[in-house]
Amino acid sequence: MMNKSVNPRGETLSTIDIAAGFPTVRPRRLRQSEPMRRLVRETRLSPADFIYPLFVVHGRGIRREIVSMPGVFHLSIDRLAAEAEELAQLGIPGVILFGLPAEKDPIGRENFAEDGIVQQAIKALRAAVSDLVIMTDVCMCEYTDHGHCGVIEGHHILNDPTLEILGQVAVSHAAAGADVVAPSAMMDGQVAAIRQALDQAGYIDTPIMGYSAKYASAFYGPFRDAADSPPQFGDRSTYQMDPANQREAMREIALDVSEGADMIMVKPAMAYLDIIRQARDTFPDLPLAAYNVSGEYSMLKAAARLGWLDEKRVALESLLAIKRAGADMILSYWAKDAVRWLDSMR
Ligand code: PBG
Repeated sequence: MMNKSVNPRGETLSTIDIAAGFPTVRPRRLRQSEPMRRLVRETRLSPADFIYPLFVVHGRGIRREIVSMPGVFHLSIDRLAAEAEELAQLGIPGVILFGLPAEKDPIGRENFAEDGIVQQAIKALRAAVSDLVIMTDVCMCEYTDHGHCGVIEGHHILNDPTLEILGQVAVSHAAAGADVVAPSAMMDGQVAAIRQALDQAGYIDTPIMGYSAKYASAFYGPFRDAADSPPQFGDRSTYQMDPANQREAMREIALDVSEGADMIMVKPAMAYLDIIRQARDTFPDLPLAAYNVSGEYSMLKAAARLGWLDEKRVALESLLAIKRAGADMILSYWAKDAVRWLDSMR
């Protein structure tokens, strides 16, 4: 039933008619000043929205800027405590870890080694700060000599043999103290396999954040430099999703949910806002993350360096759009800058 009301001319109108009515209605009335705009603002970014990715390397005293990702660094273990304290001070609740191993091999052994780079990083972060949510990326491409996210046979990426390794990696991260494991290999059944492996090892309380709808995207380009993980043959399109598909994303997410994912993700973010919105509406009960990936960061950084865009404004606008589309959490290389910018605007 529509509400009946009377307009200033004494005519009875439905609310829909009133909403349509210029000059009675003037949306600009609520845009007159910044305090007014703040009052009626529908979406807000806060430090609690962010998860900050960290790239960890072997060695000592290393804090080396990644060429294609200005402002993002390769960090050695001894540099993590300072990083963790900075994040805590900024109020950023979580990190996600990526490791660069000392050696690569066909199945990526360091990925599940007790003294692997990520396992060491988890322990160092845990010792430095108590209340940081430590998430780990569970995948194989940084660790394998062929650069694919699974075990290979010839040029085939094998699904089921990969599941066993992913389970081992997740258990090894949980054993080192990870709070959340995030499988990103896009192997079918990976969430179920990891849940089973974690439960069998006694890690019943370790949540899984599925990279549920992860597309075969060219926007991962700079990350592959950062993580030294480009595939040595072919590409990832036999396991990551076709960017053309929306219905399939909902199917992927539904599968992750049925396999026991505690949180779901859409990746990349900026070119996939429609997928984020649909995921939010289709799966209202689960926390939804979006990964604002390396290429999304680097392209705006590059344009800003050329003086063509205002980095702070385009970055905050992009992050706001991701949240407005429905993301609860944003994995972003801008996390620290964004919190500082938001702070300076208060
Ligand atoms: C591992 C992984 C990738 C990213 C996150 N986890 C690379 C890939 O799938 O090729 C990309 C993150 C980014 O671009 O920022 N599979």
